[in-house]
Amino acid sequence: MQARGPLMIEHRLIEQMLSIIEDVLSNIRSNHKIDPVFVDIAVDFIRMYADRTHHGKEEDILFRELKNKPLSDEDRRIMNELIEEHVYGRRTTQSLVAANTRYRNGDETALDDIAESLQILIEFYPRHIEKEDKVFFPSSRDYFTDEEDQKMLAEFREFDQRMIHEKYTSVVDGLKRQQ
Ligand SMILES: [Fe+2]
Ligand SMILES: [Fe+2]
Repeated sequence: MQARGPLMIEHRLIEQMLSIIEDVLSNIRSNHKIDPVFVDIAVDFIRMYADRTHHGKEEDILFRELKNKPLSDEDRRIMNELIEEHVYGRRTTQSLVAANTRYRNGDETALDDIAESLQILIEFYPRHIEKEDKVFFPSSRDYFTDEEDQKMLAEFREFDQRMIHEKYTSVVDGLKRQQ
């Protein structure tokens, strides 16, 4: 498998989550309410899986390696755009969390803000994924030898192994802070 393989497999799970969010969004519009626990689950997925685990491998390994390569202006431009989009995703998730807290505390006007953040996520993420799958991953692969590509793949596996520990350490730390 090429290094981009696991990233593309992860894109497929992110797409499934986005399609669930899309269904929930249409429920919000017809029922004018949402289960805040659903938002918690979606936020955990976005933060831990899409951002930390998936964007983590892209930024900390693939993009790091690409920064040492003689990228074409176009590839460099797209890579910077992708990094910006990761930041935008984080900001949107932060707004979503803030709106969900207000909603949970009884502020019904927060529902529109929740819907707006969810709408942004389902619109921008598929475009981001498509840009990586169809444009950036194929063209960036050309900068690596097979050996370099396999080395990244091995580093991806090591990175993933750390994630489950990081996740549950943060769960315990969060609970300890509440005590
Ligand atoms: Fe990305
Ligand atoms: Fe990605």
